[in-house]
Amino acid sequence: MTVRCVLRGCVAASALLLAACELPNAEARREAAALTGGDPSYGPPLMRKYGCQACHTIPGVAGADGLVGPPLSGIASRSYIGGVLPNTPENMMKWIMNPKGVDSLTAMPNTGVTDSDVRHIAAYLYTLR
Ligand code: HEC
Repeated sequence: MTVRCVLRGCVAASALLLAACELPNAEARREAAALTGGDPSYGPPLMRKYGCQACHTIPGVAGADGLVGPPLSGIASRSYIGGVLPNTPENMMKWIMNPKGVDSLTAMPNTGVTDSDVRHIAAYLYTLR
């Protein structure tokens, strides 16, 4: 066996190990991606970009310890969004892009989230069970 083959085996083994480490969350991430068409891993940086962390406590998002709105932990398991919309992927995206359009009295502002960004944000939120 050449050195290169040995090295390749090593790379393959560590890739397997890495995959194994992601296992607890992998299923949730796959399901969230299928529900929204987004990639959950893009969610946290996008939420920071739009300033969600100023108002919400969001597990896995750096600096997200805001207390203005409800904590978003377990949001995937909540029945209603903002107390008014049944929690479906479509409604989640609608709320994030235009909360004032859903409920004119809500304190959550429209933050200008785009069509493509909202999918990634919703995907991440649906991993928070
Ligand atoms: C200025 C503060 C503020 C900002 C910024 C903000 N939110 Fe909110 N958010 C709120 C408030 C207040 C509520 C509660 C709304 C209600 O019940 O009417 C809320 C509700 C929500 C809900 C529903 C939670 C539930 O338990 O029903 C989600 C989801 C949500 N926000 C996501 C986001 C995301 C994603 C962003 C960033 C794109 C964001 N918010 C930015 C204040 C904010």
